[in-house]
Amino acid sequence: MSTAALRAPGGAVEAPGRFDDSPFIRACRRQSVSHVPVWFMRQAGRALPEYRAARGPGSILDAIAQPDLVAELTIQPVDRYGTDAAIFFSDIVVPAAAVGFGVDIAPGTGPVVLEPFRSAADLARLRPLEPEIDTPYVIEAVQLLSQSLSVPLIGFAGGPFTVASYLVEGGPSKNFTKVKALMHADPALWHDLVERLTDMALASLRSQLDAGASAIQVFDSWAGILTPTHYAELVLPATRRLFADLESSHPGTPTILFGVGTGELLGLMATAGTSAVGVDWRVPLDEARLRVGPTKAVQGNLDPALCLGSWEVAAAETREILVRAGTAPGHIFNLGHGVLPETDPGILEQVVELVHREGHAGLDVNVGLGVDVDVEVDVDVGATRIDVDDGAGGME
Ligand code: CP3
Repeated sequence: MSTAALRAPGGAVEAPGRFDDSPFIRACRRQSVSHVPVWFMRQAGRALPEYRAARGPGSILDAIAQPDLVAELTIQPVDRYGTDAAIFFSDIVVPAAAVGFGVDIAPGTGPVVLEPFRSAADLARLRPLEPEIDTPYVIEAVQLLSQSLSVPLIGFAGGPFTVASYLVEGGPSKNFTKVKALMHADPALWHDLVERLTDMALASLRSQLDAGASAIQVFDSWAGILTPTHYAELVLPATRRLFADLESSHPGTPTILFGVGTGELLGLMATAGTSAVGVDWRVPLDEARLRVGPTKAVQGNLDPALCLGSWEVAAAETREILVRAGTAPGHIFNLGHGVLPETDPGILEQVVELVHREGHAGLDVNVGLGVDVDVEVDVDVGATRIDVDDGAGGME
């Protein structure tokens, strides 16, 4: 049954989730866990031979529109690696493509836009997303998956800056000069653009949750290119609105906000209203815990490049991260960015085993005794005492 069906007309009702007891959902909520959960950003994809075989040639946008194929590609890495969550197989530009903005995904390059966003007139090309009409295949695939998966499904959307960057730059960018120029030359237009993209992300995320997704990640992958001041002024308000609106329609849903190179933004991102903040490999996880504060879980942060060499190197780095994660609840193990296509899947499989065996953040030592210790604990992480409580918001 969809959560929408459980919602009273006047407001939202928190429905118990099927995976509330899973390590992934519990870690997002900073509850004790039986083992540290792990999944990998971009875990479905070219690193897997079974992906290449099932996917075949053709545009990924065509693959995304086939629910049976999407379900298969989403499940493949869970079966192969033994991850504690599945990430829905889709792409951050799907909503913009679905409303007809003219977006394609070029193999080896990423999203490309035929006629980039330039002026207020282009807002008309970004009509509101109606998921039942524009992306019914997303709803169908999530429904299929929620019937067949044995682990929680993470729905996702692109963050406002990252999606805007593709629409304005016309494709992947190194310096993001066009989008920065727009943000600063015409803040009113930027505001309108970001609000529209936030509405689209919200509509898409709500449709994924109604269809059975258990958690949400917002990929604002390229936000780390911004100064903290500009992120706070020009991106964070829309991001906060996104998570606040999600909380009012789907209260209690675990949420994660992630970006690359966001070390200087982590404290701000922690105020966006999510359960967890994703951390790339540049910030040691103990330092990341300090930056996001005690009321947020952290997700990360193995350098994906370190999975390309020997197992010894990947194992040493994984162990280092598990130590830095400390013992406080609220660590979801992940890479610091997506799986690189040339990764040996065997290494990732071993990373999962190692994290399950040796991870200790939030470990519920009493699980074996049948005692569910759901206490919020005070723990020392590194040099700093972290008093974990359920206070609202993060650190300002
Ligand atoms: O396992 C998964 O995470 C699969 C689902 C997924 C895809 N894209 C499929 C995909 C997710 C969560 C994304 C998110 C996404 N898309 C992000 C945020 C994550 C990040 O990496 O920061 C971004 C920035 C995009 C935009 C995008 N789409 C890029 C940069 C690329 C890579 C281009 C390439 O070919 O290397 C894509 C294409 C894409 N999206 C592929 C996949 C599996 C590869 C292309 C293919 O298989 O045809």
